[in-house]
Amino acid sequence: MVFPEYRPRRMRRNEALRGLIRETTLSADQLIYPLFIVPGKKVKNEVRSMPGVYQISVDQLASEAKELLSIGVKSVMLFGIPEKKDGVGSGAHDKDGIVQRAIRELKNKSSELLVITDVCLCEYTDHGHCGFLVNDEVDNDTTLEILAKTALSHARAGADIVAPSDMMDGRVAEIRATLDENNLEMIPIMSYAVKYASAFYGPFRDAADSTPQFGDRRGYQMDPANSREALREATLDVDEGADVLMVKPALAYLDIISKLRDEFDLPLAAYHVSGEYAMIKAAAAKGWIDGERVMQETLLSIKRAGADIIITYFAKEMARLLLK
Ligand code: PBG
Repeated sequence: MVFPEYRPRRMRRNEALRGLIRETTLSADQLIYPLFIVPGKKVKNEVRSMPGVYQISVDQLASEAKELLSIGVKSVMLFGIPEKKDGVGSGAHDKDGIVQRAIRELKNKSSELLVITDVCLCEYTDHGHCGFLVNDEVDNDTTLEILAKTALSHARAGADIVAPSDMMDGRVAEIRATLDENNLEMIPIMSYAVKYASAFYGPFRDAADSTPQFGDRRGYQMDPANSREALREATLDVDEGADVLMVKPALAYLDIISKLRDEFDLPLAAYHVSGEYAMIKAAAAKGWIDGERVMQETLLSIKRAGADIIITYFAKEMARLLLK
């Protein structure tokens, strides 16, 4: 088909025509909203670098859940900021830790909301690294045990899905085995299979108070230059029993999302991270871009690249827009 017989513009003349042939759509069912839980009561602190995103205390969760469900957002991802940190991140698997309390509160007050927990130690260690240190290096195999304990405590508190984000080798297998031994074989693992050592996590570290006190995470998170390695990482996690794979960040890694979509048949999630949110918010606040349209276009592009699920700080705003 060539011009003038074929005119692509024919099908673009009005919204009904465009809607008819639209290949990708967004649905609030597949958005996950991250929540930052802090100690205290009646706390609602806006994150400095993430306008519209708040650190909230456990007592705020019932109303948060109600709001989310009322606009069609059915899943949250929990991050905890503990009262005290230590060298080994013991707050991460405390039965009465911040995330464990948040899970119980959410599950008591609103059983319909799907509660996913980030499994990592960086918010709980005083050095801010994602695991146990030996000679200032994160020791992989010791960390596995702490991570499995953490995932188990989340699942026991009632988490629906656990999502390890630490990038230790072998953690999916370790967590799967631990859950299974404890009769939690029905709890899925959403693995941050391909997580890059990214500068786009900057604002998150304000929100979660998890900046490494020395060095960086390049010794365990992936090198942004690599894409074949992403396939190897994902293959490992599939073999170890992951139920959902994740790519993170999203926009600068759409090629990776697309590759994983082609290679694997598991559900695929993309984490549209804090820095991606902050950039859109900052430019919109200056009046340099139309924030709402850029949000929509960005989330659509992540879907189009092949993600089924998007974890995004825009979940609420996007869901509201979808209701219109
Ligand atoms: C924990 C974790 C991080 C993010 C999610 N889980 C931070 C990091 O790896 O430094 C980042 C999320 C975001 O930027 O929105 N390890």
